[in-house]
Amino acid sequence: MKHILSALLALVMTLTLAACGGGQTPATSHAAESGTGNTTAPSGKTGSDGADAPSGRKALVVYFSRTGEQYTVGVIEKGNTAIVAETIAEKTGADLWEVLPADDHYPMTYSALTDVAKREQSEKARPAYKGTAPDLSGYDTVFIGAPVWWGDWPMIMYTFFEQNRNALAGKTLIPFSTHEGSGLSGFDKKLGSAIPGAAVGKGLAVRGNDAQNNRGAARDSVNAWLDGLGF
Ligand SMILES: Cc1cc2nc3c(=O)[nH]c(=O)nc-3n(C[C@H](O)[C@H](O)[C@H](O)COP(=O)(O)O)c2cc1C
Repeated sequence: MKHILSALLALVMTLTLAACGGGQTPATSHAAESGTGNTTAPSGKTGSDGADAPSGRKALVVYFSRTGEQYTVGVIEKGNTAIVAETIAEKTGADLWEVLPADDHYPMTYSALTDVAKREQSEKARPAYKGTAPDLSGYDTVFIGAPVWWGDWPMIMYTFFEQNRNALAGKTLIPFSTHEGSGLSGFDKKLGSAIPGAAVGKGLAVRGNDAQNNRGAARDSVNAWLDGLGF
């Protein structure tokens, strides 16, 4: 069964890669490693006292990310999406908030994780997240990122969208993904549908393997995207 699921997932990635004409594929070198992984408390300030971004806009980065065994990168200590999230926060001066499962039922081995994620997707599960989301009222822009799971946002992100729908409406929401072939995988459209009334900005997709192993180039790609957004 696991082999069949893994093969199916590889097919999803390949097909979506073809459909997207490939994700962002930065290359080479290493960059900074700072902040927290997904097993510790969120780093950075949260709430309406958040720092002003260089653009003058107050921004928050909300992200979900996993450590443990991940596709192509082996066992990692900091999640691929966490690395991208921290890069965004560094450049924009945004606060960071990590969506952590209330009950961490996600396996640390890749194959088992794909099974759990598939089941949650089929059941349209809304896994609870830990704690309370930051007060969103002080932010103009919210960057929202996650790994692509089976061609979609992980279901826990829909929990976040639905529980904070009113607070997120009227803001600019900018999606980002890490992935291994599927690119942004419609994160932007799905976000817009989940939060009607929000303006969805141009998203970014970064290869998980590049975020993890080609950090300098991944950082360049993130910074160029942020420049284009006026940050
Ligand atoms: C459950 C699961 C499903 C995945 N599904 C896809 C997919 O559909 N398309 C894709 O390109 N990558 C897929 N991946 C790969 C992840 O998106 C990629 O490894 C990501 O960078 C992991 O980020 P993280 O370390 O922040 O969790 C999947 C990974 C997992 C664990």
